[in-house]
Amino acid sequence: MTTLFKNIKELLQVQTKGKPFVAGVEMKTLPTIKDAYLLIREDKIMDFGVMKDCPKTADRVVDVTGKMILPTWCDSHTHLVYAGNREGEFVDRIQGMSYAEIAAKGGGILNSAQKLQETSEEALYEQSRVRLEEIMQLGTGAVEIKSGYGLTPAAEIKMLRVIKRLQENYPLPIKATFLAAHALPTDYKTNKAGFLDQMIQEVLPVITEEKLATYIDVFCEEGYFSVADLERLLEAGKKYKLVPKVHVNQFTILGGVKASVAHQALSVDHLEMLNAGDITALQDSQTMPTALPACSFFLGIPYTPARSLIDAGLPLALASDYNPGSAPSGNMNFVLSTACIKMKMTPEEAIHAATLNGAYAMGLETEVGSISIGKQANLIVTKPLHSYGVLPYAFGSDTIEHVYIAGKKQR
Ligand code: NIG
Ligand code: FE
Repeated sequence: MTTLFKNIKELLQVQTKGKPFVAGVEMKTLPTIKDAYLLIREDKIMDFGVMKDCPKTADRVVDVTGKMILPTWCDSHTHLVYAGNREGEFVDRIQGMSYAEIAAKGGGILNSAQKLQETSEEALYEQSRVRLEEIMQLGTGAVEIKSGYGLTPAAEIKMLRVIKRLQENYPLPIKATFLAAHALPTDYKTNKAGFLDQMIQEVLPVITEEKLATYIDVFCEEGYFSVADLERLLEAGKKYKLVPKVHVNQFTILGGVKASVAHQALSVDHLEMLNAGDITALQDSQTMPTALPACSFFLGIPYTPARSLIDAGLPLALASDYNPGSAPSGNMNFVLSTACIKMKMTPEEAIHAATLNGAYAMGLETEVGSISIGKQANLIVTKPLHSYGVLPYAFGSDTIEHVYIAGKKQR
């Protein structure tokens, strides 16, 4: 079965050279074809070009006059498997408490962990699939999901099994990350080594046995886990072939960027705080810096200095960080707007960051993230638009008309 989209006002993020990501000054230009056609067969992109070369026939023809087509968003950092929510803490913050004060009182990640431990695998799956379906409607066509709200071996494995069920039941690529050290449970307050031992000895073997994760993550932050903890976990993960993809520099610079790059991390995420040494470390690496502007927006913390990264010739990915504590939204359209408005990224840079660079940040750059022959037909068809700049400009507006995943219309 072939589907032909014709009279596309502009076909965005067209890549013909198999580029794995886009970096530095190159991010300023978005490759597009105006007045284009796009042919898909089953779940794959088969052909595209200008309308004068448009094929005459296809099993199904869709006229999208006035509308644009782009690859679906690639959200490379989420925690969308969680139990309940933290609306109460949201109100506490409105009334003046800080994120750190809430965490110190046993709220924050520990609050989510308690809720998750008390929730059955079935109920957790039900709550999580609603969020996954929601982000697909919002144009996300590939996503990474972390564990990390379990904080016991059993609850971590429960989270990872839920992610696996989502992988099995939904058509979009989903990558799983074992967030081995997210917060120290109260019982282990004076025994951090014991907590890490437990995660290494009891969870890693099960991950291999049941194929539960590709990546390993650590929250490297003051009051959470140190660079030494990070190194210990990344080395343990390496023995099980887990690739690092880590939380660093959200509130403080501990040296996690350098250590992660030294361990060949696929991505370093957050980076709200960043120094010249971090940029130098990234310049000689294959590690994707990843910004999470919805988290900065929600917590009122600094935004990742995108300009310093891109102007230093580096690539940058954008992700939602969808989680109950610091970014309770998986809306990548909002992420795109915030990146432009708050981080001074151009629409072209932001679209690169939320598509191909996000795909690279979850090892999916050969499958999704651009309009390229052979890639999955994961497509956003916009409403009639004046120009693609309207996507970030019209923040909060719904600019999407249809979403296709693996060639099938989801919306
Ligand atoms: O990426 N920073 C660590 N983890 C999450 C938030 C955790 C939470 O508050 O539940 C994040 O922002
Ligand atoms: Fe996160």
